[in-house]
Amino acid sequence: MSTGSYLPEKILTNKTLESMVDTTDEWIFSRTGIRERHIADSDEFTSDLATAAAKKAIENAGIDIAKIDLIVVATTTPDKIFPSVATIVQRKLGISSNCPAFDVQAVCSGFVYALSTADNFIKAGASKCALVIGADKISSITDYTDRGNCILWGDGAGAVILQQSDEVGIISTHLHANGNYEEMLHVPRAGHGHDTIAMEGNAVFKMAVNTLDQIVDETLEANGLQKTDIDWLVPHQANIRILQATAKKLNMSMDKVVTTVEYHGNTSAASIPLALDVAVQDGRIKRGEIILMEAFGGGFTWGSALIKY
Ligand code: COA
Repeated sequence: MSTGSYLPEKILTNKTLESMVDTTDEWIFSRTGIRERHIADSDEFTSDLATAAAKKAIENAGIDIAKIDLIVVATTTPDKIFPSVATIVQRKLGISSNCPAFDVQAVCSGFVYALSTADNFIKAGASKCALVIGADKISSITDYTDRGNCILWGDGAGAVILQQSDEVGIISTHLHANGNYEEMLHVPRAGHGHDTIAMEGNAVFKMAVNTLDQIVDETLEANGLQKTDIDWLVPHQANIRILQATAKKLNMSMDKVVTTVEYHGNTSAASIPLALDVAVQDGRIKRGEIILMEAFGGGFTWGSALIKY
C-alpha cells in the first residue's frame, strides 16, 4: 500500500470563524480539538482534490499509471450528481477505459467502505492494482451561519494504491450500517435552496463513541488479537474527544493515535487516508506495522479496516 494526500491552500482558522458566527477559538478547541481547517476555492472541485492526492499516491507507489485497473472514490460531495468523481479522476489522470471507476457513498465511513470494496475486488481476482481515494469538499454543503456545525468541517483528499500481493496487506475489514438514524446527521434536499448539513451533534457524539467501542472489539476478536497487537490507530478525525475515547478503549497512549483533526478539521471520507499519509510521510508508520482504521458517519454507517502496512 502506498499513500498520497492533498489539502487546499486556503486555511480557515478559529479566529476567522469568530468573525463569521457567535463562537470563540477557546470553545471550538476545547470541544473539538480543532484549530484550523483547509477550504477549497469555489472553482476547485472534489475531483481536483482527489486527482491531486491520487497523483502523489501513484508517485509514491512508483507504478506505471497503466497498471491501475480499478478506481474507487469515497465521497459525499461529488462535483456533479453524475457522472461519478471516479470517472472524472480517471479522465484527469488519463487512465485507460479498460478500468471500472465508481463512487462509494458512506459519508465519514466512506474510505473504509471504499477500501473494503477494493480489497474484495483484489481478493476475488477482479483487480490487481486499485486506486482508492477519499475526497470531500464538505465546505460546499456547510451552513456557515450554523455555529454548532460549521466549525467542524474541512476539505481535502487522501489516496492509496492497493496492489495484489502474496504478503498480507489488508487483514480484515468490517462494515455496518443502520438506516434508522437517517435524520440525526443528514443533508436534506432543500428544493431550490442550498443543501446543507443538519446534525444533532450531541446525540451523534454519543452514538459514535459507543459504536466505535464495539467495532474495536469486533475487529480484534475476528483476528484473535489483543489490544497490544495494534501499533497505530488511524481513526476518522471527527472530534479529538471521540478519538481519545477510542484510544482509552484500546488502552492506547495518544502517541500511538494519528491525529490530524487539529489542523484538518473533519474532512469526512478524506480524513483517514489523509492521516495515514501524514504519518507515513513523517516516518511514524513503518512497513510491517499493524494499523487499525475506524470510522463512523451519517446513515449511520461505521466500520474498520485492520492492515499490515
Ligand atoms: N461556539 C459557542 N457555543 C456553541 C457553539 C459554538 N461554535 N456551538 C454550539 N454552542 C453552544 C450551544 O448553543 C449550546 O448552548 P446552550 O447550552 O446555551 O444551548 C452549548 O454550546 C452546548 O451545545 P452542544 O451541542 O451540547 O455542545 P457539544 O458539547 O455537544 O459540542 C459538537 C457540539 C458539535 C462540537 C459536538 O456535539 C460534536 O463534536 N459532536 C459530534 C459531531 C460529529 O463528529 N459529527 C460527524 C460525525 S462523522
